[in-house]
Amino acid sequence: MSSTNPSNAPQPEEDWKRSDVYHNSFLIPKDEALEFAQKNSQDNDLPAIAVSPAQGKLLNLLARSIGAKRILEVGTLGGYSTIWLARALPEDGKLVTAELEQKHADVARANLEHAGQYSKVEILVGPAAETLSKLKPEQPFDLAFIDADKMSNLIYFLEAKRMVKKGGIIVVDNVVREGRVADPTCNHESSEGVRKLLRHLKDDRDVDATTIATVGEKGYDGFLYALLNVQNIAYSQVFTCIDIVPFPNS
Ligand code: SAH
Ligand code: DHB
Ligand code: MG
Repeated sequence: MSSTNPSNAPQPEEDWKRSDVYHNSFLIPKDEALEFAQKNSQDNDLPAIAVSPAQGKLLNLLARSIGAKRILEVGTLGGYSTIWLARALPEDGKLVTAELEQKHADVARANLEHAGQYSKVEILVGPAAETLSKLKPEQPFDLAFIDADKMSNLIYFLEAKRMVKKGGIIVVDNVVREGRVADPTCNHESSEGVRKLLRHLKDDRDVDATTIATVGEKGYDGFLYALLNVQNIAYSQVFTCIDIVPFPNS
């Protein structure tokens, strides 16, 4: 016998939210600046599609793990993920974030100022493909977080790859979309945008990557984590196999 009554069982989404809230209660302290950013974004009618607190903290930890000094973000919205990432930077660190909508950029600026992080951040307003193509950073970025319109994922990934250092990281949000990306009957442009990126990564020998699906208060989705310009284990195994094939008569 199951210990829960199926008719009273929480829906999966409620379970996922409860689990996030439970874990966060131990691991992520209450944070006035982040709560201000969420409320101010909501009050300004921005869509509620920022990363969750647990995902924001993961981005912050990743950036700190590699001692990031320069970060590129694509898709600012109200700057919620931007605050988490900017906080990982030293005082002289720099975060460049690209956003299409002037209104989102204005809300993000206020939220970043409130969080005391705006001095590290430059918000570039306009279509990100154009913005990124014009960027020629003197020093490469250590980490890029791609989280804008999903159909342009490959364009953003290639631009990020051009500007992220060897050994740097590119994280792409929303690569699972409740399993729709893997559903052959879903031909939505967002799913197509993720598939295009995956097809590229299959053959890109400069990049080693994995998708981690997530459930939580933002539903069922996933992050793609890519490491740049280091030996690609998938290919190194192929090469190892070739190396050990004995030549006949040698
Ligand atoms: N990273 C944010 C959420 C970003 S939501 C966070 O987690 O807090 C996606 C954002 O991408 C939206 O603000 C949207 O306006 C922006 N966007 C959509 N199309 C874009 C484009 N072509 N260029 C730049 N930004 C775009
Ligand atoms: C959407 C965009 C996001 O970046 C996200 O994290 C969730 C949803 C969207 O456009 O629906
Ligand atoms: Mg997202």
